[in-house]
Amino acid sequence: MLKSERQTADSKQQTAKAVSVRERSGQRRRARSRCLLFAVCCLLFAGACRIDMHDQPKMKPYRSSTFFNDGLSSRPLVDGTVPRGFLKADTEYFTGKKAGRANAALPNGPQPSAQPSVQPSAQQSTSSTASPGAVPTGAAAYPDDVEVFPIPVTIQMVTRGKERYEIFCSACHGPTGDGDGMIVRRGFRRAASFNDDRLRQAPVGHFFDAVTNGWGAMPSYAPQIPVQDRWAIIAYIRALQLKNEMQSPTTTSVPPASATPEGGRHQ
Ligand code: HEC
Repeated sequence: MLKSERQTADSKQQTAKAVSVRERSGQRRRARSRCLLFAVCCLLFAGACRIDMHDQPKMKPYRSSTFFNDGLSSRPLVDGTVPRGFLKADTEYFTGKKAGRANAALPNGPQPSAQPSVQPSAQQSTSSTASPGAVPTGAAAYPDDVEVFPIPVTIQMVTRGKERYEIFCSACHGPTGDGDGMIVRRGFRRAASFNDDRLRQAPVGHFFDAVTNGWGAMPSYAPQIPVQDRWAIIAYIRALQLKNEMQSPTTTSVPPASATPEGGRHQ
């Protein structure tokens, strides 16, 4: 009897021990599975947050957006913003116009013809020179244009100008600047002669204006010729004028462009 009681007590103890061991292992298992769940969640979240560099959250130019009141994603530029390299604060250098002139960007002086290279017509034959009489000459004819070079003229600049002149101008204005280049000889409107008195006296800014903005039948060469080279070409034109003047003591020996029969002929 005693023995059996002890036995039952023992077995009770054993079952109690077994229960507590099972409970503990159950707790451990639960903790482990919680850990695993947490790790899986972490992995999932990390995966969901991944954004590749090729798919960046950015606004494309001009794409609409609800973020700003005006519906644009791009912000307007602050007033007075100038792109790097486009400041052009030196008006005389970049436009050939005297600083402070209101219409600095516009060509001035007696423009030859409003309709440059269209059908030839009777009035156009007189268009490249202004009517005689009260017309101002020299710097007075082009009051907005600079009279002195805005940069120092060096021999390198003149050499560069000669090279550029022969590439861009001589085809029409001729190698000596008489306005009889090959294109003119083949029927294009007679180009101005740099060796007539009017252009000898014209300020350098006038030449810059003509090359930059075009002049009558002559197109603008601004896209092809950088500002620095335009001044170099003008320095060379001045050298051509001087040379021609020295070679021909009577400056009137070269007839003005419009006095020639080809004056208004162009295609
Ligand atoms: C495609 C031919 C052509 C080329 C190239 C050309 N010009 Fe002209 N240029 C003309 C013609 C034509 C005129 C006269 C415009 C008119 O009467 O309609 C003229 C006029 C001018 C004038 C204006 C003179 C005036 O009457 O006050 C200047 C200055 C001038 N050219 C400079 C240049 C320079 C510098 C270059 C080279 C960078 C050049 N031109 C290249 C055809 C050309």
